[in-house]
Amino acid sequence: MQIYLVGGAVRDKLLGLPVKDRDWVVVGATPEQMQAQGFKAVGKDFPVFLHPKTQEEYALARTERKQGRGYKGFVVAADPSVTLEEDLLRRDLTINALAETAQGEIIDPFGGQQDLQQRLLRAVSPAFAEDPLRVLRTARFAARFADLGFTLEPETQALMRKLVDQGELAFLTGERIWLEMDKALSTSQPGVFFAVLEQVGALQALWPELAAHWQRHPELPGLLSKAAEQALASAQMLALVLLDLPSNLKTHFLQQVKAPKAVLQQAEALQKASQHPGLRLQAAEEVLELFEQLDSWRRPELTQQTLVLLVLLGQLASRQRLLELLAACRKLSAQPWVAQGLKGPAVGEALREERLQLLAAEI
Ligand code: CTP
Repeated sequence: MQIYLVGGAVRDKLLGLPVKDRDWVVVGATPEQMQAQGFKAVGKDFPVFLHPKTQEEYALARTERKQGRGYKGFVVAADPSVTLEEDLLRRDLTINALAETAQGEIIDPFGGQQDLQQRLLRAVSPAFAEDPLRVLRTARFAARFADLGFTLEPETQALMRKLVDQGELAFLTGERIWLEMDKALSTSQPGVFFAVLEQVGALQALWPELAAHWQRHPELPGLLSKAAEQALASAQMLALVLLDLPSNLKTHFLQQVKAPKAVLQQAEALQKASQHPGLRLQAAEEVLELFEQLDSWRRPELTQQTLVLLVLLGQLASRQRLLELLAACRKLSAQPWVAQGLKGPAVGEALREERLQLLAAEI
């Protein structure tokens, strides 16, 4: 039995990036042998095992061939005769089809190292087009590695378009889409994710209304990069993308991608806040409302990030000052009010009034 490190870990290591998850491939073993060594079987569709100590995933080398549409008709073989090369051949991009031995030797049958050097996202083979998720994955890698200068190789782009044209994207579940989108929104250039999807027709196929919105707002990619510099959460990034989209379309979109409820709330809170050009005095009330709404989610960083977003949208003069004000709002104590004899909800009311005055004095 031979064990190899594969996929993203090898890729990121070669790029000099930190390695998060490590995936392993085992060649020449049977499920029984794995279990005899203490590995725990976890794979539903494929023979995948968890290491008894590290809990990392070890998959038996396998081949895959799809004969049906969507996620149907996969013919999987994972017997001990499957070679490492055969396993790497079924993978999406050459930069993800690299393996490393325990001695640190890189195994690279499809030119992944050269593509890493040339900054190319290239499909391993036409079998790339057996999995529609790869359209989203590739767009996500384009966003993640945009700063490193990665581009999409034309034949790979054609394979993505083929998946789109064949209607394969319709087989993706909202949950899988959100997992990819969430990761893409956390990169330094989320705009590239949407731009690549648009380029291959996927944005139009998945969400025509978002595609039209994207075209109407050429300023969005730049805004998204700026927002990414502020390390906004993916909910805020998405809220920014969806800002100004009519609320019914926004809800429809968010339901389709199965984004968590908090994302929808965030999008609505931002929409509301952004409707105040200049955000003058009476808008302090709005800011406070936003602040309370976000506060109630018990994620303080969301409050700061949302305000940073408002600044990015050009509606607040000084982010620093506003953050200071909000910090001051947070620090206000109920103690003096209690000492004056206020009780229950009246304490909250008094605190709210105090916060409002603090904000209104400067906004
Ligand atoms: N893979 C694939 N097609 C998919 C999903 C995964 O070919 N639809 C392969 C790729 O070789 C990938 C490996 O499985 O490198 C592991 O997948 P995953 O952990 O999802 O992604 P990573 O490439 O490791 O990327 P990330 O850094 O985002 O985890």
